[in-house]
Amino acid sequence: MDMIALGVSSSISVYKACEVIRRFQDKNCQVQVIMTRNASQLISPLLLSALSGREVIVNPFEEKQSQRIAHVSLAKEASLLLVAPATANILGKFASGVADDFLSTFYTTVECPVLIAPAMNEAMYCHRQTQQNIRKLKGLGVKFVEPEIGYLACKDTGWGRLASPDKIVEEGLMIIKKSESLKDKTILVTAGPTREFLDPVRFLTNRSSGKMGYELAEEALRRGAEVVLVSGPTNLFPPSRAELKQVQTAEEMKKEVLKHFPKADIVIMSAAVSDFMFAKAVSNKVKKEKLGENIKIAPTPDILVELGRKKGSKVLVGFAAETEDVVNNALKKLKKKGLDLVVANNVQAEGIGFESDFNQVSIVFPGGKSIQTDKMTKIEISQIILDKVEEIVGKKS
Ligand SMILES: Cc1cc2nc3c(=O)[nH]c(=O)nc-3n(C[C@H](O)[C@H](O)[C@H](O)COP(=O)(O)O)c2cc1C
Repeated sequence: MDMIALGVSSSISVYKACEVIRRFQDKNCQVQVIMTRNASQLISPLLLSALSGREVIVNPFEEKQSQRIAHVSLAKEASLLLVAPATANILGKFASGVADDFLSTFYTTVECPVLIAPAMNEAMYCHRQTQQNIRKLKGLGVKFVEPEIGYLACKDTGWGRLASPDKIVEEGLMIIKKSESLKDKTILVTAGPTREFLDPVRFLTNRSSGKMGYELAEEALRRGAEVVLVSGPTNLFPPSRAELKQVQTAEEMKKEVLKHFPKADIVIMSAAVSDFMFAKAVSNKVKKEKLGENIKIAPTPDILVELGRKKGSKVLVGFAAETEDVVNNALKKLKKKGLDLVVANNVQAEGIGFESDFNQVSIVFPGGKSIQTDKMTKIEISQIILDKVEEIVGKKS
């Protein structure tokens, strides 16, 4: 039975939370209500407790000892955090990481998907600050049930009316289903650059930050997959539930990838593996005057080609960093390496790609068809890539 953590904030449409609780119960879900203190002024927590069959959490500092750290235990239990209705205030708090009551603190602890149903008058909803907060949250992977146009409590007609409880619950259930869409699958993701050493001090590398691969690993975990993340050197916090294998060189990456390849159903090679290494790496620092004679370049092993030959029914995804004729070059790579999908981006475009939190990619399929995303956060791009991967998995099984 799924557990829905239902955040209720102080919008005039707060009474509709009763209907949301009932609909989830009809779908065999448990609901734990978390109200803001202001919401508890508009509607009694007792009513929502009676409907949900669970004590409503309002302010843990005033409640029983057992509820004081409930944000940690409930975060482990919840399949979804839904906030319905969500005020402009709670959107602002979530977007800026303010954690000054139970609901906003809870948001900072959850790993489950988050769905928000805003409700407010049109002026509040259309305000630039509110829209900026919504964009920021979407960029962080938060999903929204957009409000509707209709008669508002302030006697206006306009945008901002809470979406219908039916629609909210339907959206919530779809998201929960998605959070299990890669259950029983093992995904091997590579990320980051490699370092090809000349001597103990100097190495050849590239501008990859690893962000795209780490977001893919996070998203795969959110969808219930087992994740092995083989990572070159980065400054990123690794996803805590992934099996992390840290490597430096292309040779080490190849070794780790081949080790975990047999158990993987899906392999996503987003690492920027160096194409070249030094033909001769030496153990002592090369003297300046001898640099010239030591710098001889040799190709690194092509991991993707080897995986392409061995892949069988596995889904194999490659990345292509291009500077010109992006889609055609990506398609050539796909054919040469026997891939199911290539994600290509123009690494010379401003504000996206290497080191950035944003990307804009073309996803290229074997028949030559491709789709181009807008400029989005790497979290959003990772969701689109995994949606496409799931379609391929579905066709293969
Ligand atoms: C009767 C009443 C209705 C309100 N309706 C809304 C609303 O629909 N949407 C909204 O964003 N704020 C609404 N507000 C303002 C919020 O309650 C206010 O911004 C509050 O500080 C939000 O607190 P909370 O987010 O902790 O619940 C309303 C206030 C009152 C008194």
